[in-house]
Amino acid sequence: MATFTIKNGLTGAVGEFEILESTMGAPVVNIAGLRSKLGAYTYDNGLGETATCQSSITYIDGAKGELLYRGYPIEELAQKKNYIEVCYLILHGELPDSGQYDRFEKDIRTKSYPHEGIKHLFNAFPDNGHPMAILSSAVSALSAFHHQHLNVSEEDEFMEMARRIIAKMPTLTAFTYRHSMGYPLIYPDMDRYFTENFLYMMRAFPTGKTEVKDVEVRALDKIFMLHADHEQNASTTTVRAVGSTGAHPYAAVVAGINALWGRAHGGANESVIAQLEMIGSVENVDTFIKRAKDPDDPFRLMGFGHRVYKNFDPRARVLKSLRDELRDTIGISSRLIEIADRVEQIALSDEYFVKRNLYPNIDFYSGTILEALGIRKKMFTPIFVIGRTVGWIAHLIEQKRDPKQKIYRPRQRYIGKVRRSVP
Ligand code: SDX
Repeated sequence: MATFTIKNGLTGAVGEFEILESTMGAPVVNIAGLRSKLGAYTYDNGLGETATCQSSITYIDGAKGELLYRGYPIEELAQKKNYIEVCYLILHGELPDSGQYDRFEKDIRTKSYPHEGIKHLFNAFPDNGHPMAILSSAVSALSAFHHQHLNVSEEDEFMEMARRIIAKMPTLTAFTYRHSMGYPLIYPDMDRYFTENFLYMMRAFPTGKTEVKDVEVRALDKIFMLHADHEQNASTTTVRAVGSTGAHPYAAVVAGINALWGRAHGGANESVIAQLEMIGSVENVDTFIKRAKDPDDPFRLMGFGHRVYKNFDPRARVLKSLRDELRDTIGISSRLIEIADRVEQIALSDEYFVKRNLYPNIDFYSGTILEALGIRKKMFTPIFVIGRTVGWIAHLIEQKRDPKQKIYRPRQRYIGKVRRSVP
C-alpha cells in the first residue's frame, strides 16, 4: 500500500492507496478516491508520470531503450517477421501460424478496395491541400460508407473492423497522394502483398509496367512495423479518449490521425528532412546546434529527444542500420546523410544533449529512407499513419474488452476568477 499524507495547511489528511504490480516496469499506485480521502487532486502536466490505463500490447523501457510488442523485442521482429505478421501479433496477442497468416493476409488484400463512392471525395479537395487533412477526411468518410459497422461489440466484429481499416489505409493514403499530384487514382492489385501494393498504387500509371523492387518493399515494410505501436503516446491516448466515449472506431482513428499530425509527434519526420535541407551543408551544422541549445531560440533539433526514451530509441537503431544498408541499393541521398550524421555526432557528444538525455528518435532516420523510396516529405506522416493504425485499433479493442473502462474525464487545477456577480 502507498500512504500519502497532505501537509502545508490542508487537512493533514492521510490516505492509503493500493499499489498494483506490473508484469514489467514500474508498479502503479491506484489513486481512485484520492480527492475524497485527501481533499486534493494530483497534477501531472503532460501525463508523463501517470498511467491512464492497463495494457498488454506494448512495453517500453525508456532508460534501457527497450521496445516489446506483446513481449517480443522490436529488433527481433524487424529481422524475422513482416508487417502483416506483426499486425496479427498486435491484434491477437500471438504470432500467426501459417494458416492464420494466410487467412488474415488474404482478407486484408480483399478489404483494400474502398467503396467506389469515396473517390468523389478527393475531387472536392484542392491539389495543394495537406495530405493529412485529406486522409483524415477520407477515413472519416469511411464511417458513412460502412455505417452498418459502426457499433462493434462482438469479438469477430472487432477483428473484421480492424482488418477493414488496416486494409483501406494504404489505399486512401495512395489516393491522397495521387490526387495531390493530379495523377489518376490507381486501385489496389490483389496479387500484391500489402506494402508492395502501396508502393504500386503510389507509382503506377494506367498504362505501362510499374517496377517495385523487393529491397524497397522490405525497407518500407520495416518502417511500417517500427511505427505499429508505441504504448500511450499522444495519438494513442487521443484514440483511447475518443473510444472511451463510445464513439465508433473510425471517429477514434480520425482523432488519432489529427493528433499525430503535430510536429512534436508524428509530424517530426517531415520536419527532420526540411531541417536537414535548411541546414544545407555539413559546415552549417554547428550554427544550428547552437540555436537548438539556445533557451531563447524556439528552434528544436527535429528527430531528437523523446518523452519516454532517455536512451537511443531502439527503432532508431534499426532504422539507422537499415539506412546504411540501403545507402547504395536505393540511392539514399548521401548529402542529407552526411548532414544527419554530423548532427548526430555533435549532439551525442555535446553536454547540452547528453545532460538532457536527448538521443535520435525514430523520426531522425525514417525520412532519409522514405525520400530514397521516392516518397515526398508531405507524405511522411501519412506513412506513419499506415503503420500506426494497427496499434490504435488494438488499443481500442483492448479498451472495449475492459468492462471497468470509464469515460476519460480528467480534472484540472482551476486558476481563474473566484465566483463574482454580474454587475
Ligand atoms: C514521436 O510518445 C511517443 O511514443 C511518440 C512517438 C511514437 O512512436 O508515437 O515515439 C513518435 O513523436 C517521436 C518524437 C518526435 N518529435 C521530435 O523529434 C520533435 C523534436 N523533439 C522535441 O520536440 C521533444 O524532444 C519532445 C516533444 C519529443 C519531447 O519534449 P519534452 O518532453 O519537453 O522533452 P524533455 O522534457 O525531455 O526536454 C528536456 C530538455 C528541455 O530543455 P530544458 O528545459 O531542460 O532546458 O531538453 C530540451 C527541452 O527544451 N529539448 C530539446 C529537444 N527536445 C527536448 N532541445 C533541443 N532540441 C530538441 N529536440
